[in-house]
Amino acid sequence: MQHELNLKPYNTFGIAANALHFASFNEVQQLPALLNAYPHLPLLILGGGSNVLFTADFEGLVLRNEIKGIELLKEDADNVYVKSGAGEVWHEFVCHCIDHHWAGLENLSLIPGSVGASPMQNIGAYGVEIKDVFHELSAYHIASGEIHTFNKQQCQFGYRESVFKRALKNQYIIIDVTFKLHKVANVKTSYGAIQQELEKMGITEPTIQTVSKAVIAIRQSKLPDPKVLGNAGSFFKNPVVSMQLFETIKRNYPEVSFYPVSETEVKLAAGWLIEKAGFKGLKKENCGVHDKQALVLVNYGKSTGQEILDLSTQIIEQIQKLFGLTLEREVNIIPNHESIL
Ligand code: FAD
Ligand code: EPU
Repeated sequence: MQHELNLKPYNTFGIAANALHFASFNEVQQLPALLNAYPHLPLLILGGGSNVLFTADFEGLVLRNEIKGIELLKEDADNVYVKSGAGEVWHEFVCHCIDHHWAGLENLSLIPGSVGASPMQNIGAYGVEIKDVFHELSAYHIASGEIHTFNKQQCQFGYRESVFKRALKNQYIIIDVTFKLHKVANVKTSYGAIQQELEKMGITEPTIQTVSKAVIAIRQSKLPDPKVLGNAGSFFKNPVVSMQLFETIKRNYPEVSFYPVSETEVKLAAGWLIEKAGFKGLKKENCGVHDKQALVLVNYGKSTGQEILDLSTQIIEQIQKLFGLTLEREVNIIPNHESIL
């Protein structure tokens, strides 16, 4: 157990907030004793720290999940069932699956963070979400000390959503995740610039390896590397709006960037809205809006979490004024203030 630990190396925004108490664990058996150490203090489970913004010191216990291990559980004619410890690094797990010719995760290459956090917000990129390849997970129930298994339906996955962010928030520690992957690849290349990137690479018959390479190239061209520039990926969700509001926005801005969702709803590209509102490339003293992707807020090195939170509030207010919709933060704000705008 460490005390008054600076969390800067443990969050990709590079915010220098302190944890009152901090410990890592690599076995479930360690949890009862760790959880009993400070039962009345707030608890935070941390993976790679790539989807959190610390706006103040964390006056409680931070437990970093480092449970490792990748196991092929079973296979049938078409599928393999692969279990990964929650503390495995997501991209290393994806590479392991690609190396073993297990298909399904290639479009999710290079997403930072841990395997254990991937179901929390049903991570997604380039036309795939983990719900598409998820089989089940095991999680430690903090109140009872029991291990519970959740299938796909029980996880209630949605766009950047799961039951662990809603009804079961702060109740479970995810310890392993099992994915149902394919022996024969059905590569998905229709999303965004994948096809274009493959053409640039001279690839006419894409494989899971080349799709992964294309996705990595696209990501590296627009998303900042947290080792160079602190960030947590998309700061906001892409807002889903009614067809009526979409039509109003489209009348004023015919070039608005969107994804169809259903007959009644449309998902707008928040990056487009933020760029249109004039924030792209904005530089405040210590933080700003990335110049290649307006959905990404960045720390130039010395920012506090509060400065970044304030910038996000300014963006939310301006988007509300211009387009009549409220952006929702995708990044987890810690400590959690349910009431912040
Ligand atoms: P953390 O930031 O450590 O934790 C996130 C939340 O999950 C916290 O609330 C934490 O308490 C909880 N948590 C973590 N582990 C556990 C556990 N084992 N049990 C219970 N709760 C847990 N996300 C996407 O979906 N798509 C993208 O394309 C994408 N691109 C990104 C690009 C960059 C450059 C960056 C920095 C981030 C990006 N993200 C993306 C966001 C981020 O990578 C994901 O949300 C990732 O799953 C977070 O993993 P983590 O281990 O870092 O989680
Ligand atoms: N756009 C702009 N200006 C910008 C940024 C985007 O106009 O500054 C417009 C462009 O028209 C572009 C469209 O928005 O075509 C979509 O942009 P992009 O393909 O970069 O994707 P995104 O919708 O901004 C989402 C995810 C990303 C994920 C990518 C790829 C969310 C909140 N974000 O971003 O996830 O990697 O799609 O699938 O859904 C994350 O969650 O942290 C993350 C990076």
